[in-house]
Amino acid sequence: MLSPRWSENKWKLAHSFGTIYGVEEAQAMLEVLNNWAPTCGARVKEFEQRFAEYVGAEHAIATSSWVGAAHLAAIVMDIQPGDEIIVPAITFHASANIFVREGAKIVFTESDPRTFNLDPTKLEEKITPSTKAVITVHMCGQPCDMDSILEIARRHNLIVIQDAAHAPGAEYHGKKLGGMGDFAFYSFQQSKNMSTLGEGGMVVTNNDEWAEKMQKLRSHGGGEYAGINPRMPDVQGAVGVIQLARVERHNAIRRKLAYTLNELLADVEGIATPYEIPDVKHVYHLYNTLVDEKALGTTRDKFIEALWEKEQIKAITQYDPTVNCLPAYKAMGHGEGECPVSEKTASRIVTLPLCPRFNESDMDELVEGVKRVIGDW
Ligand SMILES: Cc1ncc(COP(=O)(O)O)c(C=O)c1O
Repeated sequence: MLSPRWSENKWKLAHSFGTIYGVEEAQAMLEVLNNWAPTCGARVKEFEQRFAEYVGAEHAIATSSWVGAAHLAAIVMDIQPGDEIIVPAITFHASANIFVREGAKIVFTESDPRTFNLDPTKLEEKITPSTKAVITVHMCGQPCDMDSILEIARRHNLIVIQDAAHAPGAEYHGKKLGGMGDFAFYSFQQSKNMSTLGEGGMVVTNNDEWAEKMQKLRSHGGGEYAGINPRMPDVQGAVGVIQLARVERHNAIRRKLAYTLNELLADVEGIATPYEIPDVKHVYHLYNTLVDEKALGTTRDKFIEALWEKEQIKAITQYDPTVNCLPAYKAMGHGEGECPVSEKTASRIVTLPLCPRFNESDMDELVEGVKRVIGDW
């Protein structure tokens, strides 16, 4: 279903609305309404079972958001004052926030300037006797180098958490990501590759004990624990079942459009297209380019401004500043110079609009607009 606002505003809306809904979702919602719209009922259970199977994990627990999922895991991890958690500098700050709230000290590590993912070659130097966990974020939908990260983490007895908010359906060496590591958290917020009515999340794990505890914690702790309530309502679970059935197709469209953009932008000086590591399935939640201001003949920000003013193409800068340079983290003693490679990389990122509503001719239109703006300098 295309909203009537789409055609006038597609280059802007594409950043905010990552999926497509159809009549099947509406029918599924109606069925739940006819059953008095319970919270966390049979349709959530079905969504959890199918999701666990899809991502290759033993257990999946649906929640109100990624943060709700991460909160359950953070409680189970029993974070103590002084515990350190390693987080890549290039990510959305939610990756770190909940662990700060649970009392952890965040240690930022460098992201690879080509993939924007945690750089395993820089990880070990950040590990101390107080390190409890490492969070690895599959940025833009591209899997991290999980073999290297898991090898280092296992040697140091660390909990490995995957932030898979961008990556439902992504594959590493032919396998879906969910079962790798100790926990993986997904987001079904409106901009993501699949959504459950604008908000939603899932935590997956292979650990039976943790899964049982998180189930209880999600419902106030059942009197056994001081729990919380990030439950997912059944109406969202019903939509999740349908969205899950669509995600492979939507990811395939995203991948095809991304490869088209790579070809069309190949001869554009000053814009480097996304780099893909071998043997992964990148699901292109975001199409992040890297600009070279010298070759472009202007600054990154002026380029973005001109794209909007001259062509009404909305390009955005995300992850700049890096999380260590955000005011909340500066107040904790972090700041510029902590992860210089990531800070420099983030200052060059330009996210072009990409979503499964687009077709090949939209990509032609987009690149023609980009070329006209660059040709004008
Ligand atoms: C990398 C990453 N992690 C976590 C989140 C938080 O997800 P949610 O809004 O579902 O809590 C987001 C949301 O944009 C994200 O991009």
